[in-house]
Amino acid sequence: MNERCFVMLKPGAINRRIVGEVISRLERKGLNLSAAKMMKIGPELAKQHYAEHAKKSFFKDLVTYVTSAPVLAMVWEGDNCIALIRKLVGATNPADAVPGTIRGDFCIHTGLNIIHASDSPKSGERECALFFKPEEIISWHDEYTDKWI
Ligand code: RTP
Ligand code: MG
Repeated sequence: MNERCFVMLKPGAINRRIVGEVISRLERKGLNLSAAKMMKIGPELAKQHYAEHAKKSFFKDLVTYVTSAPVLAMVWEGDNCIALIRKLVGATNPADAVPGTIRGDFCIHTGLNIIHASDSPKSGERECALFFKPEEIISWHDEYTDKWI
């Protein structure tokens, strides 16, 4: 441990009532949930979060989507957590996301995929700090996790 991944369930996940299903998949993998909050994010935060895409054609639609309804912002931790979560999430375009992955199972359109996950340890640190104060992230360990997973 401890790599941190920022995960955000986008408005579609909340509205389609599949938050529990998605969280279950990350828990079953053996990862640790260390922060979570419901948020209605505004355009400023959305633009900062997705700053790397500011010049892309889809940027405006992306900001509109993630600010359109509540999201669930989370921090997950575990050894090699970011690579593992990106695998569980699946490819950006749901047409390329294999069945069994979150996007492969629950999404049709790229612009409406239901989950964000950090793509590198550096972006993990940046994004966790953007959405959470240090004291809101509660790292924890248990013997079961450390010994068997
Ligand atoms: P995310 O950041 O949300 O986890 O997604 P990602 O790493 O798999 O993909 P990224 O390239 O970072 O794109 C961010 C989000 O922008 C939307 N997008 N639309 N229409 C398009 O061609 C297009 N490309 C990207 C998606 O919502 C994607 O999740
Ligand atoms: Mg990304």
